[in-house]
Amino acid sequence: MKRDKMEFGLSYDDVLLVPKRSNIESRRDVSTETLLTKKIKLKIPLVSANMDTVTESGMAIALAEAGGIGIIHRFNTIFDQTREVLKVKRYRNAIIKNPYTIKYNISVKEAVRFMEDKNVKSLLVVSDDNKLTGVLTGRDMKIVKNNFSMPVSEIMTPREKLIVASPEIRIEEADSLMLMNRIEKLPLINSDWTIAGLITRKDIERQTSNPHSSIDSKGRLLVGAAIGVKDDAIPRARDLLEAGVDVLVIDIAHGHSELAINTLKRIKKQFPNAQVIAGNVCTAEGARELIQAGADAIKVGVGPGANCTTRIVTGAGYPQLSAVMNCSEEANKSGIPVIADGGIKNSGDLTKAIGAGASTVMIGRMFAGTDQSPGIPIVKNGKKFKVIRGMASFGAKLGREAKGNNEDNKNYLDFVPEGVEGLVPFIGNVSEIIHQLLGGLKSGMSYCGARTISQLKGKRNFVRITPAGMKESHPHDIHEM
Ligand code: XMP
Repeated sequence: MKRDKMEFGLSYDDVLLVPKRSNIESRRDVSTETLLTKKIKLKIPLVSANMDTVTESGMAIALAEAGGIGIIHRFNTIFDQTREVLKVKRYRNAIIKNPYTIKYNISVKEAVRFMEDKNVKSLLVVSDDNKLTGVLTGRDMKIVKNNFSMPVSEIMTPREKLIVASPEIRIEEADSLMLMNRIEKLPLINSDWTIAGLITRKDIERQTSNPHSSIDSKGRLLVGAAIGVKDDAIPRARDLLEAGVDVLVIDIAHGHSELAINTLKRIKKQFPNAQVIAGNVCTAEGARELIQAGADAIKVGVGPGANCTTRIVTGAGYPQLSAVMNCSEEANKSGIPVIADGGIKNSGDLTKAIGAGASTVMIGRMFAGTDQSPGIPIVKNGKKFKVIRGMASFGAKLGREAKGNNEDNKNYLDFVPEGVEGLVPFIGNVSEIIHQLLGGLKSGMSYCGARTISQLKGKRNFVRITPAGMKESHPHDIHEM
């Protein structure tokens, strides 16, 4: 039997970046601007994973505000996923073009339900012929005193007491008008009192407090969403794009498959203007075929994730550093960015992933223990934790059925999990993790003499290390506090 030439693969822990002469004096001199896809620029190379314990609207808003992007998971109904996308797109508007409205005669109870459903704290109230008749805010609700059946017209601020403006008003004028009148919302109305839009103080403040956020041409936060490769891929993609999603991610563990390639081709044919990330692959051939099929970015990683058991269950996969290097070299030829997905344990791994050629990294576990991930913390032995689960785990399968996604077959005995459920310590706001990751990345770039992400990719040298080298890298021979 002829012996195959054995490939050789390395993981993040097998290497270090070799420090180089650097003229960078401060982390402030380093730019982390990068490309997510051929057309989408980000200020920071961080993407939150499309896992149901990591990214819904809360995480996506936080990532986009920080200059990255979140990918909303697909393990719910098309309606629910689209609603999460809309929450992000509506979070920060220069002018809300189609503000939510309710009729004057609906009950306070219905209005409360509508507010909760749409995640808003106030509503414009309209007459039968859709003219503005009042504004209902959380403050108005305080006078209800258990009589939730009364119509909203009895507690709203009526039209004659409202401060309104014409749709032509400039944002700065609107800002001072709201300040002068101590109001938080400014309805914009046409001469016949039909609604032309809404400006809110919160939106104005959000824009000025985070100047590096990822935004689209209308000033709205960027957001991505995942689709699968089965029957609902096209209708899901259509609804997500109509809701304003900026990028679609074809989410399949083995992206170098005909299913993935054909889905990508179908999506690109039906929606030629959509930016589409395809994956996951781990070889140059895999990357090449997805690029030929129209991918705008390639997602790399088979089995490196914290919750993955793919390599153990199937015996297939590829150590992540080498996978990123192989795919990046190939993708570079056509200028397609690579996303290193999974296995990031610390900021050093982030720098190594980018040194290996990735333009961004996708992170699950490190973001899962934060306020912004879905779900609430649980307490175990007096400490707080949050749940994380692999999307191919048994728990995730049950979860998506509970959320109305019926993609899977219901034969539980047939199911072979390739992921596990687990707990991660609860660590508060995701902005603190982002801050630590970026601080480490910028220092790492300065060690490599790189002022930009593309310089890091070109300038880096790796040194292979032994387990002794890794032991030496961690704190050692002290009693850690
Ligand atoms: P980290 O390490 O950041 O990795 O948590 C996140 C990535 O892990 C992948 N993922 C899985 N892979 N079985 C797998 O083999 C699973 O159940 C699973 N769930 C998530 C996914 O690529 C994610 O972005």
